[in-house]
Formats: sequence, C-alpha cells, structure tokens
Amino acid sequence: SKKSDYEGLRILVTAGPTREPIDPVRYISNHSSGKMGYAVAKAALERGAFVKLVTGPVNITPPSGAEVVCVTSAIDMYNEVMKSYESFDVLVMVAAVADYRCASVSESKIKKSGDRFTVELVKNPDIAAELGKVKGDRVLVGFSAETDNLLENAALKLASKNMDMIVANDVTVEGAGFGVDTNIVKFIKRDGSSIDLPIMSKEDVAHRILDEVLSIGKG
Ligand code: C5P
Repeated sequence: SKKSDYEGLRILVTAGPTREPIDPVRYISNHSSGKMGYAVAKAALERGAFVKLVTGPVNITPPSGAEVVCVTSAIDMYNEVMKSYESFDVLVMVAAVADYRCASVSESKIKKSGDRFTVELVKNPDIAAELGKVKGDRVLVGFSAETDNLLENAALKLASKNMDMIVANDVTVEGAGFGVDTNIVKFIKRDGSSIDLPIMSKEDVAHRILDEVLSIGKG
C-alpha cells in the first residue's frame, strides 16, 4: 500500500558507518553497509516525505529525490544533524556511529616502529542522545544492534536517549544486521509495548517503521 501518508512531513535519516581518522591514510570504522538507513530514506520518499539523508561512507547509491549530505567522522555527522534537525518532524538514527575517535590525529603518516602501538581514544558525541534532549515533539527513532540481552539493552537505550521507538536486532542471528538484505527486528515503544517482526527485507522493515512512526505522531 504505497500511499502518500508522509506528504508534508520532513524526515531526517542518518545511515552508514563513520570513519575516525588515525593519520592521513588510516581510520577506525565498522561493518555498517548503509542498507537499512537507505531503505528508510527510500520508503519515506515513496510515501511523499521530504527526506534528508546524512550518510557515512558506503558503497550503495542513495535513493533519488533525497537531500544527501555525505560525512566522514562522527563529529561531522553530529554537526550536520544538529544544524538541521529543527526543521524536521521525524528523526531516524540508523547510522552505526563510532563511539570513540582518536584523541589526536597525526598530521603525517605514522611510521612502523616498535612491536606494539597504542592509540588513545576519546568518546564521540552520541547524536541520538543529544537529539533526545532537544527533540520537543519530534518523533525520534533509534536502532539497537545487540549480541546479548536484546530487549533489556534496547529498552535501556530507548529510555536513556529519550527515543519514541527503538528498533532492536540481534546481530548474531543469520538474516539480521550488517551487510545482508534482510533483517529480523523488534520494535520497542516508550509505553513498553513491543512488536516482534519475522525475517523481512530491509525495505519492508523500513515501511513498518514508518507505519509505527505515524501512529506515534498521532498518539
Ligand atoms: O548506544 P548505541 O550506539 O547502541 O545506540 C544505537 C543508536 O544510537 C542508533 O540509533 C545510533 O544511530 C545512535 N547513535 C548515535 N550517535 C552515537 C552512537 C549511537 O546517533 N555516537
């Protein structure tokens, strides 16, 4: 049912990994493919939303019609989201943002020397948590990729980041999580209710998320 139920709504989506530089040629990152976030952006476009996609470096093509801003590091992504969130109704944080960045980035390539090498890391801003503090009546949705205590950890994140809904997936299960085209997720909402979904394509998960967002917005 591809309706126009998002016409007039503005949705901001983060997607992909971030890269945290070590020196001019090296970085720390993760396995996020961007597929889930891009699917949310595409689904929202299909339903008539204005979509801004703030994306880390990925190898997939953004859906046409979105305003796309490419960023590299968590700080870049944070700055881009913070400067634009105010004009959006719905904020969906799908990016796998690096929790830490290098305390100092070397200006020149680090030379190989001793048998051990230590990189000091400092905490990155938590974009979703910062939005949670200022979101007002905007609907904030986050993701929670877990390897254990799925529901408990996801519920804690929902509360601590002041989200309206969290999409939890167990990344150890086949057919869920990084890189693949399918996902197996649970939705947990602010009122404690949860919805268990069967394995489905990331496109279908995206549409189910958008269905729930509308019901929250109206609630
Ligand atoms: O705490 P954790 O990283 O597991 O939470 C995941 C959720 O928080 C995702 O929605 C992710 O996009 C968001 N997040 C963020 N900025 C961070 C870390 C996580 O927006 N620095």
